Amino acid sequence: MKKIFLGEDNLPKKWYNVLPDLPEPLPKPIKPTGEPLTPKDLKPIFPKELIKQEFAEERWVDIPEEVRSVYSLWRPTPLMRATRLEKFLKTPARIYYKYEAVSPPGSHKPNTAVAQAFYNAQEGVERLTTETGAGQWGSALAFSTMLFGLKCTVYMVKVSYEQKPYRRILMQLWGAEVIPSPSTKTKAGRAILEKDPQSPGSLGIAISEAVEDAVVHENTKYSLGSVLNHVLLHQTIIGLEALEQMKSIDEYPDIVIGCVGGGSNFAGISYPFYGETVAKKAPKDVEFLAVEPTASPSMTKGVYTYDHGDTARLTPLLKMYTLGHDFVPPPIHAGGLRYHGAAPTLSLLVKHGKFRSIVYDQVSVFKAAQIFAQTEGFVPAPETAHAIKAVIDEALKAKETGEEKVILFNYSGHGLLDLKAYDDYLSGKLQPYYYPREKIERSLSKLFELYPNIYKTQK
Ligand SMILES: Cc1ncc(COP(=O)(O)O)c(C=O)c1O
Repeated sequence: MKKIFLGEDNLPKKWYNVLPDLPEPLPKPIKPTGEPLTPKDLKPIFPKELIKQEFAEERWVDIPEEVRSVYSLWRPTPLMRATRLEKFLKTPARIYYKYEAVSPPGSHKPNTAVAQAFYNAQEGVERLTTETGAGQWGSALAFSTMLFGLKCTVYMVKVSYEQKPYRRILMQLWGAEVIPSPSTKTKAGRAILEKDPQSPGSLGIAISEAVEDAVVHENTKYSLGSVLNHVLLHQTIIGLEALEQMKSIDEYPDIVIGCVGGGSNFAGISYPFYGETVAKKAPKDVEFLAVEPTASPSMTKGVYTYDHGDTARLTPLLKMYTLGHDFVPPPIHAGGLRYHGAAPTLSLLVKHGKFRSIVYDQVSVFKAAQIFAQTEGFVPAPETAHAIKAVIDEALKAKETGEEKVILFNYSGHGLLDLKAYDDYLSGKLQPYYYPREKIERSLSKLFELYPNIYKTQK
């Protein structure tokens, strides 16, 4: 079978919360003073319901009917079998992918954007601010705020703003204001530009600008597209559907693969399967593989410690794998993977060896994307192509061992608005960027100097 559908009636009614199933309690977020962060501290930037979800201990959280109704525009998404890729690779592995590219903005991002816009609208918020890398998240929030009657301001990482005009147009079409970051609109942006007028921007810088904008303006809140617990919670709809779809054809993955920027699409597809292994309901051992770019390898080469989520240090300190909050990754085409940190829950699972991470350079990634496009036909987002590279390598390993491995991966978005990146690849202009070790070390040692009180005990 090529496509496995779930009926609209089977759209999940609850999200899965991984917090109670972690191997140890999630280290609490802290303030720069070292004190634990309280829900009250988050009030200036998030609505009450999302703060509640951020700290929620219950395993299942109801999905509001209003959110399910918007989800039904494109959900449940199909689960696809990559039979033509299997044949091309001559592998005994069976490869399945969850096709999140069918959403109006073209990626998994609206799974949380819709929920966040809904809760903000319900609590009387009038405008949301956010950052965006590739423009996928910004377009998801622009789409979702439009549906719930909110205004939206998007700080878009400058290098993407320049490389990806079509996503800017999409955001504007859905009614959002889009500002290239670093910008002169905020104190954080001006400080960066003073030091480096040519700064290509980064997700960390854009987050600083969006948070500052929300904090200094009335009836304005901030919305984050990845990393935080409530964002990952909303994304579990992907894995919950995939679980039902696989079970309906008597399949179960040996390995679940996804690319990682902040961790939301990978957590989305993998956490429900991880939850089954914890509950001893999984019929076999499942491996979980997170794929990062060599240019920004937070989990593979970073350290597990407390760090800010943003460059200007406006956000609290989260315990996670990080390359240091002022690490600015090279301007690779997978803009959505250029983030210095990784979700705290995912970081903890990697630290405990429950999940594994791996890195690939962008040239090998685009090669894999081309193989996929020439076999399955679909053109993946550069971010998604990282997962595809790992899938191909796993399938080739299975060919060597003769194992009928079942591989599941998240097709997090399409690449039809990323054709400039494909053009650069086809004309041989792409560089295989490796992480600049000295830059990471410099950025981490600055972090340790900044908060000696915290790192004395944490290092
Ligand atoms: C298509 C796509 N996949 C993956 C990502 C990475 O983000 P995350 O790790 O939060 O899923 C992005 C981020 O913008 C994206 O646009």
